[in-house]
Amino acid sequence: MPLAHDLEALAVEIAQEAGELARRRRSEGVSIAATKSAIADIVTEADREVEQFIRARIATERPGDGFLGEESGAERASTDITWVVDPIDGTVNYAYGIPSYAVSIAAVAGEPVPGRWEAMAGAVFNPASGELFRASRGGGAWLGESRLVVNAEPSGAGALLATGFGYDPATHATDLARVARVMPLARDIRRIGAASLDLAFVAAGRLDGYFERGLQPWDHAAGALLVEEAGGMVGGAPADARGRILIVASGPGLFESLLEAAID
Ligand code: IPD
Repeated sequence: MPLAHDLEALAVEIAQEAGELARRRRSEGVSIAATKSAIADIVTEADREVEQFIRARIATERPGDGFLGEESGAERASTDITWVVDPIDGTVNYAYGIPSYAVSIAAVAGEPVPGRWEAMAGAVFNPASGELFRASRGGGAWLGESRLVVNAEPSGAGALLATGFGYDPATHATDLARVARVMPLARDIRRIGAASLDLAFVAAGRLDGYFERGLQPWDHAAGALLVEEAGGMVGGAPADARGRILIVASGPGLFESLLEAAID
């Protein structure tokens, strides 16, 4: 069996277990939390616990692989593989009880730096909906038994696009200016609140495109592979003065015009 397929199977298994843990922790925690700030602590705690769970599972199954996670930082590999993990992508949704959050797990080969790595496998699991998106290099992108295909180009009514905004208020003006530039291409805009799901939805043809400046490696590692394996394109621009990279993803018919509008 090829390596990418094995990595995908492991990513899927661990994402499901981790997602179930995240879902359980939220329902247990919220029932005992008396205040909003107590919920914030539960979210932080759940984020850390879920990442530790994923890290430990990977270390057991594939000792020697590297790890790059949102909560616990990086560990270099003695193999060629690094796991890039967001334990709970969409933490604000998770905190507020909006059922759009996901565990995102990718296995990448080579240097563990976006743009230099080669993504081998990925899984994005939303425990609130039960949807699990998965991909392996050369093996396609899948939701259950359905093979995913991006929209080759938007319909005549314009593109259904998604974006996101960084948490730092200092970045909001440039992010909003980007939305204004992109708007002529759009029939409408979504802000789902979890980049991994935005990318999974582009792969599934539920969105025509997605753009955001400021993503971290763990936000897009698995989702970008889903898009590429579904026949889409992923690109963007290097870090700006604040260190924020631009990610643009869509079907081939929209990509150049979306990139041109989103870039700054
Ligand atoms: C965030 C979400 C959000 C995106 C932010 C990310 P987090 O990840 O993916 O949609 O707009 O840029 O940081 O913090 O919930 O893991």
